[in-house]
Amino acid sequence: MTDPLRRLTPVVRLAPAKLNLTLAVVGMRPDGFHALHSVMVPLELADRLSFAPAAGHRDTLHLSGHDLEPGADNLVLRAIAETRGSVGAGWSGGSGPPPALAVRLEKAIPVAAGLGGGSSDAAAAIDGALEAWAAELPDASRLALAARLGSDVPFFLAKGAALIEGRGERVTPLRGVVDGSPGVLLATPRVHLATADVFAVFAGGIRPVADGAARLTSDHLAGELESGLTVRQLLDRAAVLASANDLLRPTAAVLPELVSFRRALARVLGRPVGQSGSGPTCWALYPSRAEAESAAQTARAAVDAGKLPRLADDTPFIAATAIPGGPDGAAEVRTRPTSTRTVMLERRDTR
Ligand code: C5P
Repeated sequence: MTDPLRRLTPVVRLAPAKLNLTLAVVGMRPDGFHALHSVMVPLELADRLSFAPAAGHRDTLHLSGHDLEPGADNLVLRAIAETRGSVGAGWSGGSGPPPALAVRLEKAIPVAAGLGGGSSDAAAAIDGALEAWAAELPDASRLALAARLGSDVPFFLAKGAALIEGRGERVTPLRGVVDGSPGVLLATPRVHLATADVFAVFAGGIRPVADGAARLTSDHLAGELESGLTVRQLLDRAAVLASANDLLRPTAAVLPELVSFRRALARVLGRPVGQSGSGPTCWALYPSRAEAESAAQTARAAVDAGKLPRLADDTPFIAATAIPGGPDGAAEVRTRPTSTRTVMLERRDTR
């Protein structure tokens, strides 16, 4: 029989950030979570994970890139433990459960920023562990496992633009942007903001002024991205998208300084500025990554000049990135060498 460890060649995975182009809260579920309708896209900004055999019997995690402490509850370790549990003794490399892994995680995505970094790391850990063990899991099991780990995790199994519904477990892949890769400027004030607090404020009655507007925009955009949009068409919709987030007012109630930050950024950039998820990351769209780079320089200069506030007396994270696109954009992201298999997720109903 093949030596099990021979199968454990180091595996490398990129874990992209996500951006919510729209976010409508459409109801409260019996499980206490909110039902969402959100169009999400992956970004080129990504964490990097590598998986190798561990020396001992325990999975280990080595973090670099920021000051997050590795803990037993870290989503990456949980994802690996749960994946091992799901694979069980059915591992092809030998009897008993799949062996321990040593994971290195290089963070590039700011933590707790509304960019899904931790969730993306968890999704990459599921895929990376399966590949390291040369193990398989049915798509439905992977999706269920992802959903157990967090609301945003299933999105990252789709590896492309998608419509997210339910708590986050219903993922419908969309074609996305078809003629290029729109640039994105990200600006994340370094403030603590808990997603649960923002949803709690929403549940307490802080609702959008135009109730139902985000849902309409979200539905419309999902339909358009299902057929495919050009970069220009996406940019034409930037102002509408920037306001199509039902968590804007709840986030502002939790963190009032964010409103002045977002307004200042919109003034400095001369562009609509949206919020990703429950925040605090703010985004602006550009025709290309190069244009987003020059906007990032403008934003950094504005911080130095005092035109963009330093919340909590700290310099915000400002970065230029892009939404992977182009004729084969979505297909390319879905079949990147870092990905072994395509996730069979629900197809959007054809109406
Ligand atoms: O699933 P996740 O850990 O990302 O969610 C963080 C918190 O945000 C949840 O505990 C819940 O309070 C809130 N939430 C929600 N509805 C969702 C997603 C998150 O109420 N769809």
